[in-house]
Amino acid sequence: MSTPRFTVEFGKNDPLPQDGRLDAAAFHRNHAAIAPVLGVFLRDRTGDVLEIGSGTGQHAVAFASKLPAIAWWPTDLDDNHLRSIKAWRAHARLANLRAPVRLDASEADWRLPALGLPSAFVAMFCANVIHISSWAVAEGLFAGASRHLAAVGTLFLYGPFKRDGRHNAASNAAFDESLRARDPAWGVRDTADLKKLGRANGLRLTELIEMPSNNAIMAFERINPA
Ligand SMILES: C[S@@+](CC[C@H](N)C(=O)[O-])C[C@H]1O[C@@H](n2cnc3c(N)ncnc32)[C@H](O)[C@@H]1O
Repeated sequence: MSTPRFTVEFGKNDPLPQDGRLDAAAFHRNHAAIAPVLGVFLRDRTGDVLEIGSGTGQHAVAFASKLPAIAWWPTDLDDNHLRSIKAWRAHARLANLRAPVRLDASEADWRLPALGLPSAFVAMFCANVIHISSWAVAEGLFAGASRHLAAVGTLFLYGPFKRDGRHNAASNAAFDESLRARDPAWGVRDTADLKKLGRANGLRLTELIEMPSNNAIMAFERINPA
């Protein structure tokens, strides 16, 4: 399969390791900061977490290892990334890390039961995807969260975000420009647009947690959890 236009390929310029495990530099900078945030929400919970755009699979391994009562379901749509996730999973041998599944978040129906996945999740986690893909992916992600979050469930978005129309750092403004130069449909998303998209899908922003390097985690929950 050819690589989709909106996919960023890790390790594109490096030879793939024999078993397919890819290494994302950003993972090493961000996972230790993200893990405790997920831990606060998920430490005392059991159930399933769906990860969208898992990339190398390193987050899946890191977070599944810290949350043994959670079953972690990694997904992506890129063949090399699915291979990498599979290889990291084989390497880590974690009982609670499920096999990766191909999922295009922009699709209107994710067909989760047909793919062997649960249909309700205590959380969904999506890092560094919605600025490196078209807005349709953000729309698909929120619609999917609306369909598949448990009544008391949280959608976590990690990445850089504009704050009500303004960049929070010059480096993020430059990053935004470079993304748009690569593809006009890409770009750092705005918290206001994401809050609006959340509301349209019955979700409200419950927390915006500042993270290192001018990133943040946005946490969304159901407006009517009944
Ligand atoms: C920059 S990488 C981030 C990967 C990983 N979450 C991380 O933070 O290291 C973006 C990922 O989103 C995936 N992706 C892009 N468009 C997607 C879509 N429509 N549905 C699901 N995943 C997508 C890409 O294949 C890639 O793995």
